Amino acid sequence: MNIQQEIEMLTKEVESQALKTSEQLESFRLEYLSKKGKIPALFQRFREVDASERKEVGRVLNVLKNQAEDLFKVAKDEIETTSSAPEATFDASAPGIPFSTGSRHPLRLVANQLYEVFSRIGFIVAEGPEIEDDWHNFSALNFPEEHPARDMQDTFFIMNDPSMALRTHTSSVQVRMMETRKPPLRMIMPGRVYRNEAISARAHCFFHQVEGIYIDKNVSFADLKQTMLYFSRELFGADTQIRLRPSYFPFTEPSAEMDISCTVCKGKGCNICKYTGWVEILGCGMIHPNVLKNCDIDPEEYTGFAFGMGIERIAILKYQVKDLRLFSQNDIRFLKQFTGE
Ligand code: DAH
Repeated sequence: MNIQQEIEMLTKEVESQALKTSEQLESFRLEYLSKKGKIPALFQRFREVDASERKEVGRVLNVLKNQAEDLFKVAKDEIETTSSAPEATFDASAPGIPFSTGSRHPLRLVANQLYEVFSRIGFIVAEGPEIEDDWHNFSALNFPEEHPARDMQDTFFIMNDPSMALRTHTSSVQVRMMETRKPPLRMIMPGRVYRNEAISARAHCFFHQVEGIYIDKNVSFADLKQTMLYFSRELFGADTQIRLRPSYFPFTEPSAEMDISCTVCKGKGCNICKYTGWVEILGCGMIHPNVLKNCDIDPEEYTGFAFGMGIERIAILKYQVKDLRLFSQNDIRFLKQFTGE
């Protein structure tokens, strides 16, 4: 067989190759492309080709070589990508892959219950910013200049603008609402608040509050007391008692701290209520005339009450949680205990 016939024959052979597996690929390489393969052997013989035929034989030989190399490369790529891809099998009868869903947070459950209870007596929900200016967090609320809450030890101020702080209470939202709306106002304001406290089972550098205000003509302390009694019984049970103790807040006058009868021992005395039968849950009072004036509400025409409570505190009492830190650790085993999921 002369060299030209042989090139023609090999070309046909190469074209008819099925290279589907890595074994087929390897034997193709050995047979045609490797040093001792058929194509390099033809290049050896090419040296003996007559000068008159060299040009044409050289051309077809190179075409054959390129064709074999291309075929090899394409098949190699194909085999490599398909072997590294995951098995494309689908078993419709296999059981589903279970994934765990989240759970409603106990603080959210308490907040939702508060919204529900207060909405029944006409309160709406309002929110305000967590980074607050001095006016809304302190001055408008009648805080004197030297009040300890204005101290760096108690409040997180913003370093590059010390007139701004992380709000220390939701009472700042009272001010924002009174400034922008006209009485009658009946609203609760939930949100996160911040205080510079060492983190322990009983304190954290942030917690949540719900503030409430009711401002209208002739709102009295009796309205405050009745509203507090109503919501306490809705939240903690119909046999709950409340008591108000005189207290001081710059933004209310008179001010009071409110206790409810211990939900655990029903007033008999236990370690939750420290054997007093009562647990403190909120601060409240009649809105100070200076605060109303600061918000352009005439204290001769309108009066109002306000109250503020920690949501964690309510949740701790309701669910008897022993450690405040559990609320912010996001352990699903803890969180799932409150929704019964
Ligand atoms: N702002 C108070 C605090 O953070 C709670 C409070 C007390 C809010 C009395 C009120 C109120 O609106 O009338 O401790």
